[in-house]
Amino acid sequence: MNEAADIAALTVALRSLVPGPDRTAAFDTVSALAAMRDLGIVAGSLKRHGVQPLDAAPELLPVLVELGHRTDMIPRDTVHHYTAWNPADGRRRMYTGDPMEACLQDAVRMVFPSLVASLATCEQLAGLEPYDPAFALALRRTDRHVRAMVAAIDYTVAHVSPVYFAQVLRPYFEEFTVDGRDYLGPAAAQVPLWLVDLTLWQSDRSGPSYDSFIAESVPYSLPSWRAFHAAHAGSPSAVGKLSAAVSWENADRLPAPLADAALALTDVLRTLKTFRARHITIARKAYSDDVRLYENGSGGAPIELLRSVLDLTRDNETLVRRSTRPRTQAA
Ligand code: HEM
Repeated sequence: MNEAADIAALTVALRSLVPGPDRTAAFDTVSALAAMRDLGIVAGSLKRHGVQPLDAAPELLPVLVELGHRTDMIPRDTVHHYTAWNPADGRRRMYTGDPMEACLQDAVRMVFPSLVASLATCEQLAGLEPYDPAFALALRRTDRHVRAMVAAIDYTVAHVSPVYFAQVLRPYFEEFTVDGRDYLGPAAAQVPLWLVDLTLWQSDRSGPSYDSFIAESVPYSLPSWRAFHAAHAGSPSAVGKLSAAVSWENADRLPAPLADAALALTDVLRTLKTFRARHITIARKAYSDDVRLYENGSGGAPIELLRSVLDLTRDNETLVRRSTRPRTQAA
């Protein structure tokens, strides 16, 4: 249907999928998530062909609102529905059926277990001071989790062509309107790497464009991750805490746990930087003048956002790395 841009068939498919009120009410949480995923992929397909899904199927509105309410998520499918909650076998839901779409879904799917695990190590980190040996340990564990992002982008670069992404897949991630509000499609930009940034550096060492990107991204994440953001936004970050501690010490003779913490923090920031440097390379190709169909990424932000987040990550890494050098060398 998508290949043929068959709007009539997509409309019939969507309308026949919409569950009635009794059926919707009987869904448990897992079924509610699955229903949102399945309705979302057909609704997003209609939008790709220029039709607002709720104009084509007005009876969908109360169902999306109810499913969002029941799962404590937005009233539209997200990157979680499209990847982690999508079967990986023959039942896989896709817009195009192209193997490159499956590879992009799998790249994103592979980072979620690590991001869930990093939430726990970041939670520990938020409650620790850099003099505590557990601070460096939590950073090293976080680093191990964040390396999944590097593996995911390497997998993407190896298997997904930027031209396919830009010209075939990207149009399916357009926003559509639910109850007067636009909701973005289930794109990789919703992968909440900001959770890790928040605790490492973003809470007190960010910039306006990344701050507003995060503010717009938070509603698309899981309830517990939104709670994590609410609890830690505005608290001192690991970089903030470490810089304050180092400034009290003689950098020639830092206490061992502090020196170890600085090394571990440099390492995890370098891993984030590596992900972002490789990611911006493929993103630049997909959004180059001769390839792109859209000015902005599917997360709603322009490519310059990626440059500024990469710069912030790099600046924080440099700051921490230099902070432990003897003062004469640092100067
Ligand atoms: C063809 C592949 C990809 C392209 C062209 C691409 C492009 C982009 C663009 C243009 C943005 C800017 C924000 C926006 O979209 O509104 C972005 C953000 C982002 N993307 Fe991708 N992306 C790709 C694959 C991936 C993959 C596989 C992941 C993760 C596994 C990922 C994770 C992110 C994250 C976390 C952000 C937020 C900014 C940041 O943390 O640096 N992307 N992407």
